[in-house]
Amino acid sequence: MSAITAGEAEPADLIAVGVQDGGSPLASAPLDALLPVSASRLAEAYGHSGKPGEIADSAIAVADRVVRVLLLGVGDRSAGALRRAGAELARACSDGRTAVTDIAGDPGQDIEAFAEGVLLGGYRFRIRSEPDEAIPGAVHLLSADPEAAAAVRRAVAVAQAVAVARDLANTPSAGKSPQWLADEAVRITAGRGVDVRVWAEEELAADGFGGLMAVGSGSARPPRLIELSYNPPDAASHVVLVGKGITFDSGGLSLKPTDSMKLMKTDMAGGGAVIAVLSAVAELGVEARVTGLVAAAENMPSGSAYRPGDVIWQYGGRSVEVLNTDAEGRLVLADALAYAVARLAPDQIVDIATLTGAARVALGGAYAALYSTCDSLADALIAAGEASGDRLWRMPLEQDYRPLLDSPVADIAHVARSGQGAGSILAALFLREFAAATPWAHLDIAGPGRAGADDGELTKGATGFGTRLLLSWLAGDPSRAG
Ligand code: BES
Ligand code: ZN
Ligand code: MN
Repeated sequence: MSAITAGEAEPADLIAVGVQDGGSPLASAPLDALLPVSASRLAEAYGHSGKPGEIADSAIAVADRVVRVLLLGVGDRSAGALRRAGAELARACSDGRTAVTDIAGDPGQDIEAFAEGVLLGGYRFRIRSEPDEAIPGAVHLLSADPEAAAAVRRAVAVAQAVAVARDLANTPSAGKSPQWLADEAVRITAGRGVDVRVWAEEELAADGFGGLMAVGSGSARPPRLIELSYNPPDAASHVVLVGKGITFDSGGLSLKPTDSMKLMKTDMAGGGAVIAVLSAVAELGVEARVTGLVAAAENMPSGSAYRPGDVIWQYGGRSVEVLNTDAEGRLVLADALAYAVARLAPDQIVDIATLTGAARVALGGAYAALYSTCDSLADALIAAGEASGDRLWRMPLEQDYRPLLDSPVADIAHVARSGQGAGSILAALFLREFAAATPWAHLDIAGPGRAGADDGELTKGATGFGTRLLLSWLAGDPSRAG
């Protein structure tokens, strides 16, 4: 990740001048003092459009030295445009150069969004024998305002959490067993006001976590339930976050083709986001009690694997007819949801999961599918999504489709018996049964959980989607409408 600071002028390799839509520059007096000619004349000479992230790079002579000036598009200076601008500036500095800039906006929100962009755009994940040629650079924001420094600190806390989620999901599955994920949850949250409890397979079996046990049964590396508890004094409400933690999804006996399977190391991205959120709640001053549950298992085919046609018992004692072992996510989530309702008495539950290819087909990478039994909770999450950049699109929990999950042998089937479409909705309808009467929201992040290429503040591979959203929702409004 790149570095970012705020304060008085400092020497740097590059001077970056923000250019708004229509070409008007943003330079302030302290930044102009570093430039040989005024920022407006520069922007005009280049005919810069101001499009977010667009960069014009030039070398200008000042007395006996040469200064490198970057004209950096900041568009309409919305949070999204500033994140993209920050990310492109980080990429321009990825060879280890330093930049000084002044986005001349609101010292709070504008700087936070810009700083987040710098940090997230400068993220890299590499496993190479030679050290990476790209050395993250540093960006210095010209601002003496103490609010600017506070905004940078918030951005650093959020971006570090996103990097945690990305690192976990980008890690190849050879080294990523359920126990490894549990160990990482302990390591990452150490000293951060969070208690961690891990259920081993014997405890899961004894307590009736039949979904986790069935899904994990084909793997040599047994399942785990990871519970992370943040319990600040005087908390007025209790939120449970449930994350899908499938450390590799081969499909099980309903084996996936190679092309679909090769991306499935990121099938614990929801669980990774939950761990990442818990790692930052104390630092961001979240006032609610927050419990994270990561349902971790490896979905593998073998002689001990669960089978299509099996009937399993979920936590709490409901039977489920398994028809396709590749619909494993909802089975491990159902256990965790039922456990949360029975044991944790939460005011709200939000689950996050790379659950269905259908959600990705419907919405692509720009939006996660949101399902909720509570309008105010859905509205609060949508608003946090718009503010944070992790956007949500609400989908219907269409009751007319519920009979498709009826089973002739068990209480319910986990998928429809034949392809009826609405795959993401059916998964949500299945999960709803286990959230019971607790206000609940489900985020299907199969689309935005990974990016095919660097794009704005996203980097190729795992995106850490949901981390910014949930932190913004939890930290934003102490009473958390909903
Ligand atoms: N992990 C996958 C969903 C997925 C697909 C995530 C593509 C990210 C990208 C999930 O476990 C799965 O396999 N879902 C099946 C469900 C089906 C068998 C009902 C799917 O979407 O095909
Ligand atoms: Zn899966
Ligand atoms: Mn699957």
